[in-house]
Amino acid sequence: MTDEQQDREAAVTAQVLRSFADCADPRLREVMESLVRHLHSFVREVRLTEAEWNAGIEFLTRTGHITDERRQEFILLSDVLGVSMQTVAVNNEAYGDATEATVFGPFFVQNSPEIGHGEDLAFGAVGEPCWVEGTVADADGAPVAGARIEVWEADEDGFYDTQYGDDRVAARGHLFSDTDGRYRFWALTPTPYPIPHDGPVGRLLAATGRSPMRASHLHFMVSALGRRTLVTHIFVRGDELLASDAVFGVKDSLVKDFQPQDGGAPTPDGRDLGGRSWSRVDFDIVLAPDGA
Ligand code: BEZ
Ligand code: FE
Repeated sequence: MTDEQQDREAAVTAQVLRSFADCADPRLREVMESLVRHLHSFVREVRLTEAEWNAGIEFLTRTGHITDERRQEFILLSDVLGVSMQTVAVNNEAYGDATEATVFGPFFVQNSPEIGHGEDLAFGAVGEPCWVEGTVADADGAPVAGARIEVWEADEDGFYDTQYGDDRVAARGHLFSDTDGRYRFWALTPTPYPIPHDGPVGRLLAATGRSPMRASHLHFMVSALGRRTLVTHIFVRGDELLASDAVFGVKDSLVKDFQPQDGGAPTPDGRDLGGRSWSRVDFDIVLAPDGA
C-alpha cells in the first residue's frame, strides 16, 4: 500500500474521532472513541470488501429480526464470540478463594418459584434426579446466611422451560442459605444441549466449522448483602464437551463430581425415587465482598 493510501485511511479514522470532541459524558466518549479505533483497524487489517460489509449488515439485520422477549440472538452472538466471557473476566477479578463466575446465558427468568431446603426444583421437567448440596461462605470462611441462590437448567431433552412456547415454569427455582450457610435441593442431572442454532448465529457456527453444543451444566446466581453477586454454573467432570463448550464458559474450578447412584440407592432425605437412578454433587460457594 502506498503512503498516500495509508494517510487517507488514517484520516478517516481521525475525522470520526474528532467528532466526539464535544461529548459531555467522558466515559461515553472513551468507549466510542475506542470502538471506532478498533472497528476501523479491523476494516483496514482484513481489507474488508464492500460485499463483505453488506453481508455483515445483513447478518446483524437478521439477528435483530429474530430477537424478541423470548429469543435474544445478540446475547447469543456475544456468547459465541467470547465477548460475554471476556466481559465476565474483566468484571470479576479473582479474589481469594471466591468461586469463579461464568457466562449468564439467555435463559434466566425473574421471579422463579421459591423452594424449601431439600425440595425439588424440577417441577415436572424430565431428567434424572440430582441431589445438590453445599455451603455459602465469604472469602474468610465465615458462613453467609440468607444468601439467595437462584438455580436454572435445561431438561434431559436439552430445552429450558422458556423454549417450549407455553407458560410452564420448570427446572428453575430459588432458595436461601440457612443460618449455617448451608443449602440442599433436588434438581436434574445436567445433560449437554445445543444453544439455539436455527438462526443467524447457528449459521455462523456452521459456516466456521463450530459446534453449537454446550457442556452439561447447572446455572447458579448467588446474591447476599455486602457480597459481589456470583453468576456461575457447575459442570460435570468427565463430560467430553468440557474442552469445546460453544460459549467458552468452562473453568476448571467449576468442574464437579456428579456421583452416579444406582436405582434403589438410599437418598439423602429418604425420598422414594421409585427405583430410578440419581446423582449427587457438592458445591461449596465462596462470595467475594461487594466491589472486590
Ligand atoms: C446457557 O447456558 O443457558 C447458554 C449460554 C450461552 C448461550 C446460550 C445458552
Ligand atoms: Fe445453560
